[in-house]
Amino acid sequence: MQTELLKIDENSIDKAAEILRAGGIVAIPTETVYGLAGNAFDPAAVKSIFVAKGRPGDNPLILHIADLEMLGVIADGIPPLAEKLAKRFWPGSLTMIFKKKDIVPPETNGGMSTVAVRMPNHALTLELIRRCGFPLAAPSANTSGLPSPTSAQHVFDDMNGIIPLILDGGRCSCGVESTVVCFTEKGVKILRPGAVTPEMLSEFCPVEIDRTVLESLKIDEKPISPGTKYKHYSPKAEVFVVETDSEEKFAEFAAENAGEKVYFLAKSAAGITANTLPYGESAAEEAGSLFSSLRKADDLGAEKVYVRAPSKDGIGLAVYNRLLRAAAFKIIRI
Ligand code: TXA
Ligand code: MG
Repeated sequence: MQTELLKIDENSIDKAAEILRAGGIVAIPTETVYGLAGNAFDPAAVKSIFVAKGRPGDNPLILHIADLEMLGVIADGIPPLAEKLAKRFWPGSLTMIFKKKDIVPPETNGGMSTVAVRMPNHALTLELIRRCGFPLAAPSANTSGLPSPTSAQHVFDDMNGIIPLILDGGRCSCGVESTVVCFTEKGVKILRPGAVTPEMLSEFCPVEIDRTVLESLKIDEKPISPGTKYKHYSPKAEVFVVETDSEEKFAEFAAENAGEKVYFLAKSAAGITANTLPYGESAAEEAGSLFSSLRKADDLGAEKVYVRAPSKDGIGLAVYNRLLRAAAFKIIRI
């Protein structure tokens, strides 16, 4: 199959809507990461998303909507808190889990009784959803297990020859996937951290953070969010998280462990003379560059990548969560 890469605009949206209406799949930009989209109500379309990504069938997809009317079509028992959160954070990087209505076929959500929903903050992607008239089921547009795509080129690298169209919306402004929450008796529980931080959510309700955000699953433990049990975000290179409170110690560690095929992700001011990849000065910049730097490591033939652990505050929690999984929980404390 020939894969077209088109800048997202009125014409390419038309083309994408046509493919989607006919049951095909298309890569779309969002503010978090690129998504691989299909008609959420069409089991065959959804199946081809799983096949294109090589994704396990029991890992449910997020449904992307353009307005609250669409939410009522797919979700049941929407709590008043959800309406408040939607008002504040949608369109944006918050995915909420609701009871699902029968219109959502089991193929879309791994046979679960719930459905995850988000309104992405990307004007042209919202326009595309409106033109389709159905929600778009869309996981991140990477091959399952690899780092998520934050540019159209990343999608092309994984999906060339597999999907007909990639809509290029430039670099994703956020760079890590949305915050996934479910509702508890008193408030929300964060199953996956993202740009909508625990601090932001706690202005509205009590916030719990699921244990699996910072810890691996125990053997036989059944996760609330099936995605947490799979290997994730990993480049071919072996990734290590380096936990330290000192720039100097990290620079010393880099000098001691330097090598031709060894790369370091650290704040640019860290004074490291070994191979480095872009990371950024703030947690937001780290979120924006983590996945692209992990992909770059593979392009450069890296064998090992050492990443300075981010702070766990704000969006740093999301960076830390992805990094732990990319590193298969290998942490070096110095
Ligand atoms: O930012 C994002 O959320 C991106 C963009 C494309 O919107 N999408 C994304 O999708 O990251 P994906 O499929 O890579 O991750 C969805 C996560 C998985 O961990 C999945 O297990 C969880 O959400 N999930 C989906 N539906 C769920 C449900 N009903 N209950 C619990 N977890 C669910
Ligand atoms: Mg993903």
